[in-house]
Amino acid sequence: MNEYIDSVLVTKEEIAAMVSRLGEQISNEYRGKNLVVVGVLKGGFVFMADLVRAINIPCQMDFISVSSYGCSTKSSGVVRLIKDIDIPLNDKHLLIVEDIIDTGLTLTYLKEMFKARNPLSVKICTAFDKPSRRKVEIKAEFCGIEIPDEYVIGYGLDFKEKLRNIPDLCILKRKFYE
Ligand code: IMP
Ligand code: MG
Repeated sequence: MNEYIDSVLVTKEEIAAMVSRLGEQISNEYRGKNLVVVGVLKGGFVFMADLVRAINIPCQMDFISVSSYGCSTKSSGVVRLIKDIDIPLNDKHLLIVEDIIDTGLTLTYLKEMFKARNPLSVKICTAFDKPSRRKVEIKAEFCGIEIPDEYVIGYGLDFKEKLRNIPDLCILKRKFYE
């Protein structure tokens, strides 16, 4: 997979430290509350798997699948719901777990969609954040690591549906998308 990697942006050790910090914050915030953690597929699955094991309070888990990019490296702005959660959200606190916030379009759509189901609260946890690329204002209450405007792969993030299995967060070589 090395032929795709320009450089490592965040090492797996730095990611592990970030995950423990977020797990602790989330456990403190939701202790004694009914928490549902919802992972956004597909990109969020690696982070979700690590994060829930860093959370030390009981919580329900579910997944939602959306498609925002299709197979290109640019956001289309169109969010398509492919799979919904099956857990009802009334009397629950909802935490949405995403791999990365880029334009913010995906999470804005999801947050509004979930709010309409009247949970007690809706918050966002993201592993990575590219604040410089925002098209709509949205902030994660729990944010891992801010990164510059680069196309990144690994730790769940794909290029053309591949390379999600790279353990570090890496910058994709420009020749693949320019
Ligand atoms: P947004 O709607 O523009 O915020 O995009 C969010 C989604 O786009 C993420 O969940 C990722 O799946 C994808 N995405 C954004 N930036 C990158 C990147 O650098 N590499 C791979 N996927 C990305
Ligand atoms: Mg993606």
